[in-house]
Amino acid sequence: MSTSNNKNYRPETRLVHAGTLRSQFNEMSEALFLTQGYKYDSAEDCEQRFSGKIPGYVYSRYSNPTMDMFEQRMAALEGAEAARSTATGMAAVTTALMGLVKQGDHVVAAKALFGSCRWVIEDWLPRFGVPCTLVDGKDLNAWKAAVTPNTKVLFMETPTNPTLEVYDIAAIADIAHNAGAKLVIDNVFATPLYQSPLSLGADVVVYSATKHIDGQGRVLGGVILGSEKIILDNYHQLLRQTGPSLAPFNAWIMLKGLETLAVRVERQTRTASAVADALAGHKKINRLIYPGRADHPQADIVKKQMRGGSTLCSFEIKGGKEGAFRFLNGLQLILITNNLGDAKSLITHPMTTTHQRLTPEQRAELGIGDGLVRLSCGLEHQDDIIADLMTALDQV
Ligand SMILES: Cc1ncc(COP(=O)(O)O)c(C=O)c1O
Repeated sequence: MSTSNNKNYRPETRLVHAGTLRSQFNEMSEALFLTQGYKYDSAEDCEQRFSGKIPGYVYSRYSNPTMDMFEQRMAALEGAEAARSTATGMAAVTTALMGLVKQGDHVVAAKALFGSCRWVIEDWLPRFGVPCTLVDGKDLNAWKAAVTPNTKVLFMETPTNPTLEVYDIAAIADIAHNAGAKLVIDNVFATPLYQSPLSLGADVVVYSATKHIDGQGRVLGGVILGSEKIILDNYHQLLRQTGPSLAPFNAWIMLKGLETLAVRVERQTRTASAVADALAGHKKINRLIYPGRADHPQADIVKKQMRGGSTLCSFEIKGGKEGAFRFLNGLQLILITNNLGDAKSLITHPMTTTHQRLTPEQRAELGIGDGLVRLSCGLEHQDDIIADLMTALDQV
Protein backbone atom coordinates (compact mmCIF):
# COMPACT_ATOMS: atom_id res chain seq x y z
CA MET A 1 0.00 0.00 0.00
CA SER A 2 1.25 3.47 -0.79
CA THR A 3 0.51 6.68 1.04
CA SER A 4 0.91 10.34 0.05
CA ASN A 5 1.96 12.64 2.88
CA ASN A 6 3.91 15.70 1.82
CA LYS A 7 4.32 18.07 4.74
CA ASN A 8 4.90 21.04 2.42
CA TYR A 9 1.41 20.88 0.96
CA ARG A 10 -1.10 23.48 2.04
CA PRO A 11 -4.25 22.45 3.98
CA GLU A 12 -6.48 22.36 0.87
CA THR A 13 -4.07 19.94 -0.81
CA ARG A 14 -3.70 17.79 2.30
CA LEU A 15 -7.48 17.55 2.56
CA VAL A 16 -7.57 15.83 -0.82
CA HIS A 17 -4.44 13.67 -0.71
CA ALA A 18 -2.96 13.18 2.76
CA GLY A 19 -3.06 9.71 4.24
CA THR A 20 -4.24 7.98 1.06
CA LEU A 21 -3.36 4.29 1.15
CA ARG A 22 -3.52 2.69 -2.31
CA SER A 23 -3.92 -1.04 -2.66
CA GLN A 24 -2.35 -3.20 -5.37
CA PHE A 25 -5.23 -2.15 -7.66
CA ASN A 26 -4.20 1.53 -7.64
CA GLU A 27 -7.78 2.67 -7.15
CA MET A 28 -8.41 6.40 -7.56
CA SER A 29 -10.97 6.88 -4.80
CA GLU A 30 -9.98 5.76 -1.31
CA ALA A 31 -11.02 2.15 -0.74
CA LEU A 32 -13.64 1.15 1.79
CA PHE A 33 -12.37 -1.84 3.75
CA LEU A 34 -15.50 -3.44 5.19
CA THR A 35 -13.76 -6.09 7.20
CA GLN A 36 -13.75 -6.97 10.87
CA GLY A 37 -10.51 -8.91 10.82
CA TYR A 38 -7.41 -9.81 8.81
CA LYS A 39 -5.90 -13.11 7.72
CA TYR A 40 -2.35 -14.02 8.72
CA ASP A 41 0.16 -15.84 6.53
CA SER A 42 1.19 -18.17 9.34
CA ALA A 43 0.78 -18.74 13.06
CA GLU A 44 4.12 -16.97 13.57
CA ASP A 45 2.93 -13.97 11.56
CA CYS A 46 -0.22 -13.86 13.68
CA GLU A 47 1.79 -14.01 16.93
CA GLN A 48 4.14 -11.25 15.83
CA ARG A 49 1.39 -8.96 14.62
CA PHE A 50 -0.47 -9.43 17.88
CA SER A 51 2.61 -8.58 19.90
CA GLY A 52 3.24 -5.54 17.69
CA LYS A 53 6.66 -6.85 16.64
CA ILE A 54 5.68 -6.53 13.00
CA PRO A 55 3.25 -3.90 11.71
CA GLY A 56 -0.12 -4.78 10.26
CA TYR A 57 -3.80 -4.75 10.98
CA VAL A 58 -5.16 -7.14 13.61
CA TYR A 59 -8.81 -6.33 14.21
CA SER A 60 -11.00 -3.40 13.15
CA ARG A 61 -11.80 -2.44 16.73
CA TYR A 62 -8.09 -1.50 16.85
CA SER A 63 -7.61 -0.16 13.37
CA ASN A 64 -8.54 -0.60 9.73
CA PRO A 65 -7.04 0.85 6.53
CA THR A 66 -10.02 3.17 5.95
CA MET A 67 -9.93 4.42 9.57
CA ASP A 68 -6.20 4.82 9.17
CA MET A 69 -6.56 7.00 6.09
CA PHE A 70 -9.05 9.24 7.90
CA GLU A 71 -6.77 9.50 10.95
CA GLN A 72 -3.69 10.28 8.88
CA ARG A 73 -5.52 12.90 6.83
CA MET A 74 -6.83 14.55 10.01
CA ALA A 75 -3.36 14.49 11.61
CA ALA A 76 -1.84 16.07 8.48
CA LEU A 77 -4.49 18.77 8.46
CA GLU A 78 -4.19 19.52 12.18
CA GLY A 79 -0.39 19.39 12.24
CA ALA A 80 -0.61 16.62 14.85
CA GLU A 81 1.79 13.71 15.20
CA ALA A 82 -1.01 11.23 15.79
CA ALA A 83 -4.79 10.82 15.60
CA ARG A 84 -7.33 8.23 16.67
CA SER A 85 -10.87 8.08 15.32
CA THR A 86 -13.97 7.36 17.39
CA ALA A 87 -17.61 6.47 16.76
CA THR A 88 -18.94 9.92 17.74
CA GLY A 89 -17.72 13.29 18.89
CA MET A 90 -18.85 12.46 22.42
CA ALA A 91 -16.78 9.25 22.37
CA ALA A 92 -13.79 11.45 21.44
CA VAL A 93 -14.50 13.97 24.23
CA THR A 94 -15.15 11.31 26.87
CA THR A 95 -12.05 9.31 25.95
CA ALA A 96 -9.90 12.44 25.70
CA LEU A 97 -10.85 13.35 29.27
CA MET A 98 -10.92 9.91 30.88
CA GLY A 99 -7.57 8.95 29.37
CA LEU A 100 -5.87 11.78 31.28
CA VAL A 101 -7.33 11.31 34.76
CA LYS A 102 -7.58 8.82 37.60
CA GLN A 103 -9.37 8.85 40.94
CA GLY A 104 -8.35 11.87 43.03
CA ASP A 105 -7.51 14.07 40.04
CA HIS A 106 -9.36 17.29 39.32
CA VAL A 107 -10.59 18.93 36.11
CA VAL A 108 -11.20 22.61 35.39
CA ALA A 109 -13.51 23.44 32.48
CA ALA A 110 -15.24 26.43 31.01
CA LYS A 111 -18.93 26.55 31.98
CA ALA A 112 -20.01 27.28 28.44
CA LEU A 113 -19.95 23.76 27.03
CA PHE A 114 -22.13 21.73 24.70
CA GLY A 115 -24.72 20.02 26.96
CA SER A 116 -23.29 16.46 26.72
CA CYS A 117 -19.71 17.66 27.30
CA ARG A 118 -20.88 19.49 30.40
CA TRP A 119 -22.66 16.34 31.62
CA VAL A 120 -19.47 14.28 31.25
CA ILE A 121 -17.51 16.86 33.24
CA GLU A 122 -20.13 17.74 35.83
CA ASP A 123 -22.02 14.47 36.39
CA TRP A 124 -19.96 11.58 35.03
CA LEU A 125 -16.32 12.18 36.02
CA PRO A 126 -17.19 12.90 39.69
CA ARG A 127 -18.67 9.37 39.94
CA PHE A 128 -15.12 8.09 39.52
CA GLY A 129 -13.65 10.45 42.09
CA VAL A 130 -12.67 13.14 39.60
CA PRO A 131 -14.34 16.39 40.70
CA CYS A 132 -14.53 19.43 38.48
CA THR A 133 -14.61 23.19 38.81
CA LEU A 134 -16.48 25.15 36.16
CA VAL A 135 -15.26 28.66 35.40
CA ASP A 136 -16.09 31.59 33.17
CA GLY A 137 -13.80 30.74 30.24
CA LYS A 138 -13.20 34.42 29.46
CA ASP A 139 -11.73 35.09 32.90
CA LEU A 140 -8.06 34.05 33.03
CA ASN A 141 -7.94 34.75 36.77
CA ALA A 142 -10.84 32.35 37.31
CA TRP A 143 -8.90 29.57 35.50
CA LYS A 144 -5.83 30.29 37.65
CA ALA A 145 -7.84 30.37 40.87
CA ALA A 146 -9.59 27.08 40.09
CA VAL A 147 -6.42 25.07 39.56
CA THR A 148 -5.40 22.85 42.50
CA PRO A 149 -2.36 20.58 43.01
CA ASN A 150 -4.57 17.71 41.75
CA THR A 151 -5.66 19.42 38.54
CA LYS A 152 -4.70 17.27 35.56
CA VAL A 153 -6.92 18.64 32.78
CA LEU A 154 -8.24 22.00 31.62
CA PHE A 155 -11.02 21.64 29.04
CA MET A 156 -12.95 24.03 26.83
CA GLU A 157 -14.51 24.56 23.45
CA THR A 158 -13.84 27.78 21.58
CA PRO A 159 -15.87 29.24 19.95
CA THR A 160 -18.46 27.89 22.36
CA ASN A 161 -21.77 26.28 21.63
CA PRO A 162 -24.14 28.17 21.29
CA THR A 163 -23.01 31.63 22.39
CA LEU A 164 -19.85 31.67 20.22
CA GLU A 165 -17.64 33.03 23.01
CA VAL A 166 -13.94 32.85 22.22
CA TYR A 167 -11.26 31.97 24.78
CA ASP A 168 -7.53 32.63 24.73
CA ILE A 169 -5.99 29.22 24.01
CA ALA A 170 -2.34 30.26 24.43
CA ALA A 171 -2.97 31.95 27.79
CA ILE A 172 -5.03 29.04 29.12
CA ALA A 173 -2.40 26.54 27.87
CA ASP A 174 0.18 28.42 29.96
CA ILE A 175 -2.06 28.18 33.04
CA ALA A 176 -2.45 24.42 32.44
CA HIS A 177 1.25 23.81 31.95
CA ASN A 178 2.29 25.89 34.96
CA ALA A 179 0.03 23.61 37.01
CA GLY A 180 1.40 20.44 35.41
CA ALA A 181 -1.95 19.83 33.69
CA LYS A 182 -2.94 19.24 30.04
CA LEU A 183 -5.19 21.45 27.95
CA VAL A 184 -7.86 19.66 25.88
CA ILE A 185 -9.71 21.69 23.23
CA ASP A 186 -12.97 20.80 21.53
CA ASN A 187 -12.33 22.54 18.19
CA VAL A 188 -15.63 21.69 16.50
CA PHE A 189 -16.85 25.22 15.92
CA ALA A 190 -13.56 26.56 14.57
CA THR A 191 -12.86 23.53 12.35
CA PRO A 192 -9.21 22.58 11.66
CA LEU A 193 -9.18 25.24 8.95
CA TYR A 194 -9.65 28.24 11.22
CA GLN A 195 -7.86 27.32 14.42
CA SER A 196 -4.89 25.08 15.28
CA PRO A 197 -4.97 24.61 19.07
CA LEU A 198 -1.86 22.39 19.15
CA SER A 199 0.24 25.18 17.67
CA LEU A 200 -1.19 27.53 20.32
CA GLY A 201 -0.06 25.25 23.15
CA ALA A 202 -2.97 22.82 23.62
CA ASP A 203 -2.06 19.19 24.26
CA VAL A 204 -5.09 17.41 22.83
CA VAL A 205 -7.68 18.44 20.22
CA VAL A 206 -11.01 16.70 19.72
CA TYR A 207 -13.63 16.94 16.99
CA SER A 208 -17.11 15.77 16.41
CA ALA A 209 -16.53 14.76 12.78
CA THR A 210 -20.33 14.53 12.60
CA LYS A 211 -20.36 18.28 11.96
CA HIS A 212 -18.32 20.02 9.23
CA ILE A 213 -16.08 17.03 8.47
CA ASP A 214 -18.93 14.87 7.20
CA GLY A 215 -20.68 18.09 6.30
CA GLN A 216 -23.68 16.45 4.70
CA GLY A 217 -25.62 15.16 7.69
CA ARG A 218 -24.97 11.45 7.07
CA VAL A 219 -22.89 9.70 9.73
CA LEU A 220 -21.46 10.28 13.20
CA GLY A 221 -17.79 10.21 14.10
CA GLY A 222 -15.06 11.79 16.15
CA VAL A 223 -11.32 12.17 16.34
CA ILE A 224 -8.65 12.79 19.02
CA LEU A 225 -5.35 14.41 18.01
CA GLY A 226 -2.11 15.11 19.80
CA SER A 227 1.55 14.12 20.03
CA GLU A 228 2.54 10.51 19.40
CA LYS A 229 3.43 10.26 23.10
CA ILE A 230 0.15 11.55 24.49
CA ILE A 231 -1.84 9.32 22.14
CA LEU A 232 0.20 6.21 22.96
CA ASP A 233 0.44 6.85 26.71
CA ASN A 234 -3.17 7.89 27.30
CA TYR A 235 -5.51 6.78 24.53
CA HIS A 236 -4.12 3.90 22.50
CA GLN A 237 -4.96 1.10 24.94
CA LEU A 238 -8.11 2.79 26.28
CA LEU A 239 -9.58 2.96 22.77
CA ARG A 240 -8.50 -0.56 21.80
CA GLN A 241 -9.83 -2.19 24.95
CA THR A 242 -13.06 -0.24 25.40
CA GLY A 243 -13.90 -0.08 21.66
CA PRO A 244 -15.67 3.19 20.77
CA SER A 245 -14.31 2.62 17.25
CA LEU A 246 -15.35 4.46 14.12
CA ALA A 247 -17.04 2.09 11.66
CA PRO A 248 -15.03 1.73 8.41
CA PHE A 249 -18.00 2.90 6.34
CA ASN A 250 -18.31 6.04 8.46
CA ALA A 251 -14.54 6.59 8.23
CA TRP A 252 -14.87 6.44 4.45
CA ILE A 253 -17.66 9.02 4.47
CA MET A 254 -15.52 11.30 6.66
CA LEU A 255 -12.53 10.84 4.40
CA LYS A 256 -14.53 11.85 1.36
CA GLY A 257 -16.06 14.70 3.38
CA LEU A 258 -12.59 16.06 4.10
CA GLU A 259 -11.92 16.44 0.37
CA THR A 260 -14.52 19.19 0.15
CA LEU A 261 -14.16 20.63 3.68
CA ALA A 262 -12.30 23.80 2.68
CA VAL A 263 -14.68 24.64 -0.16
CA ARG A 264 -17.74 24.11 2.03
CA VAL A 265 -16.45 25.89 5.14
CA GLU A 266 -15.21 28.91 3.17
CA ARG A 267 -18.55 29.30 1.41
CA GLN A 268 -20.58 28.70 4.59
CA THR A 269 -18.46 31.26 6.43
CA ARG A 270 -19.04 33.87 3.73
CA THR A 271 -22.76 33.20 4.01
CA ALA A 272 -22.76 33.36 7.84
CA SER A 273 -20.89 36.64 7.71
CA ALA A 274 -23.40 38.09 5.22
CA VAL A 275 -26.29 36.81 7.37
CA ALA A 276 -24.78 38.41 10.48
CA ASP A 277 -24.41 41.74 8.68
CA ALA A 278 -27.97 41.53 7.37
CA LEU A 279 -29.42 40.74 10.82
CA ALA A 280 -27.34 43.19 12.89
CA GLY A 281 -29.55 45.90 14.32
CA HIS A 282 -32.81 44.20 13.17
CA LYS A 283 -35.66 45.45 15.32
CA LYS A 284 -36.85 41.93 16.25
CA ILE A 285 -33.40 40.90 17.53
CA ASN A 286 -31.89 41.75 20.91
CA ARG A 287 -28.37 40.50 20.37
CA LEU A 288 -26.32 39.09 17.52
CA ILE A 289 -23.08 37.14 17.99
CA TYR A 290 -20.70 36.40 15.11
CA PRO A 291 -16.98 35.77 15.63
CA GLY A 292 -15.84 37.66 12.57
CA ARG A 293 -17.55 40.96 13.23
CA ALA A 294 -15.77 43.84 14.92
CA ASP A 295 -18.54 43.95 17.56
CA HIS A 296 -17.83 40.40 18.79
CA PRO A 297 -16.96 40.72 22.53
CA GLN A 298 -13.65 38.85 22.04
CA ALA A 299 -12.81 40.27 18.59
CA ASP A 300 -9.17 40.77 19.65
CA ILE A 301 -8.75 37.05 20.53
CA VAL A 302 -10.52 36.01 17.32
CA LYS A 303 -7.96 38.07 15.42
CA LYS A 304 -5.07 36.61 17.39
CA GLN A 305 -5.88 32.91 17.20
CA MET A 306 -8.36 32.26 14.38
CA ARG A 307 -7.85 32.34 10.62
CA GLY A 308 -11.56 32.76 9.84
CA GLY A 309 -14.89 33.55 11.47
CA SER A 310 -17.55 30.88 11.70
CA THR A 311 -20.14 29.02 9.68
CA LEU A 312 -22.50 29.71 12.61
CA CYS A 313 -24.16 32.80 13.91
CA SER A 314 -26.33 33.11 17.03
CA PHE A 315 -28.96 35.72 17.78
CA GLU A 316 -31.61 36.40 20.35
CA ILE A 317 -35.15 36.96 19.14
CA LYS A 318 -37.23 39.45 21.11
CA GLY A 319 -40.14 37.92 23.03
CA GLY A 320 -38.27 35.00 24.66
CA LYS A 321 -39.29 31.42 23.89
CA GLU A 322 -42.59 32.47 22.37
CA GLY A 323 -40.89 34.91 20.00
CA ALA A 324 -38.24 32.34 19.07
CA PHE A 325 -40.85 29.64 18.38
CA ARG A 326 -42.87 32.00 16.22
CA PHE A 327 -39.72 32.82 14.27
CA LEU A 328 -38.67 29.15 13.93
CA ASN A 329 -42.12 28.10 12.79
CA GLY A 330 -42.08 30.88 10.19
CA LEU A 331 -38.97 29.50 8.45
CA GLN A 332 -39.54 27.75 5.14
CA LEU A 333 -36.03 26.91 3.95
CA ILE A 334 -33.93 26.70 7.11
CA LEU A 335 -34.56 23.44 8.95
CA ILE A 336 -35.22 23.14 12.67
CA THR A 337 -32.80 20.59 14.15
CA ASN A 338 -30.07 20.30 16.77
CA ASN A 339 -27.15 19.52 14.45
CA LEU A 340 -24.70 21.85 12.71
CA GLY A 341 -22.12 21.95 9.93
CA ASP A 342 -24.46 20.46 7.31
CA ALA A 343 -24.80 21.45 3.63
CA LYS A 344 -28.35 22.41 4.61
CA SER A 345 -28.96 25.47 6.78
CA LEU A 346 -30.04 24.35 10.24
CA ILE A 347 -31.39 26.22 13.21
CA THR A 348 -31.49 25.27 16.89
CA HIS A 349 -33.23 26.67 19.95
CA PRO A 350 -30.66 25.78 22.67
CA MET A 351 -32.98 26.44 25.61
CA THR A 352 -35.32 23.62 24.60
CA THR A 353 -32.74 21.26 23.04
CA THR A 354 -28.96 21.12 23.61
CA HIS A 355 -29.10 23.09 26.88
CA GLN A 356 -32.51 21.94 28.16
CA ARG A 357 -30.88 20.06 31.05
CA LEU A 358 -29.49 23.27 32.59
CA THR A 359 -31.51 25.30 35.08
CA PRO A 360 -32.82 28.73 33.97
CA GLU A 361 -30.18 30.29 36.25
CA GLN A 362 -27.38 28.26 34.67
CA ARG A 363 -28.58 29.22 31.19
CA ALA A 364 -28.81 32.88 32.18
CA GLU A 365 -25.25 32.73 33.50
CA LEU A 366 -24.10 31.45 30.11
CA GLY A 367 -26.05 34.04 28.16
CA ILE A 368 -28.45 31.45 26.74
CA GLY A 369 -31.60 33.52 26.77
CA ASP A 370 -35.02 31.98 26.10
CA GLY A 371 -35.07 33.68 22.69
CA LEU A 372 -31.56 32.64 21.60
CA VAL A 373 -31.26 30.66 18.35
CA ARG A 374 -28.14 29.21 16.72
CA LEU A 375 -27.99 29.20 12.93
CA SER A 376 -25.63 26.88 11.05
CA CYS A 377 -25.34 28.21 7.50
CA GLY A 378 -25.48 25.69 4.69
CA LEU A 379 -24.59 25.80 1.02
CA GLU A 380 -27.82 27.34 -0.25
CA HIS A 381 -27.57 30.76 -1.91
CA GLN A 382 -27.02 33.37 0.82
CA ASP A 383 -29.83 35.57 -0.51
CA ASP A 384 -32.34 32.72 -0.10
CA ILE A 385 -31.18 32.16 3.49
CA ILE A 386 -31.41 35.87 4.32
CA ALA A 387 -34.85 36.16 2.69
CA ASP A 388 -36.11 33.19 4.73
CA LEU A 389 -34.80 34.75 7.97
CA MET A 390 -36.36 38.13 7.17
CA THR A 391 -39.75 36.62 6.35
CA ALA A 392 -39.76 34.61 9.57
CA LEU A 393 -38.69 37.65 11.61
CA ASP A 394 -41.69 39.54 10.23
CA GLN A 395 -43.89 36.94 11.96
CA VAL A 396 -42.45 37.60 15.43
C1 LIG B 1 -19.05 21.35 20.64
C2 LIG B 1 -19.50 19.94 20.47
N1 LIG B 1 -18.75 18.95 20.98
C3 LIG B 1 -19.14 17.66 20.85
C4 LIG B 1 -20.31 17.31 20.22
C5 LIG B 1 -20.70 15.86 20.18
O1 LIG B 1 -20.57 15.30 18.92
P1 LIG B 1 -21.39 13.99 18.46
O2 LIG B 1 -22.80 14.38 18.31
O3 LIG B 1 -20.69 13.60 17.18
O4 LIG B 1 -21.20 12.96 19.53
C6 LIG B 1 -21.12 18.33 19.68
C7 LIG B 1 -22.41 18.07 19.00
O5 LIG B 1 -23.13 17.17 19.07
C8 LIG B 1 -20.70 19.67 19.81
O6 LIG B 1 -21.45 20.67 19.32
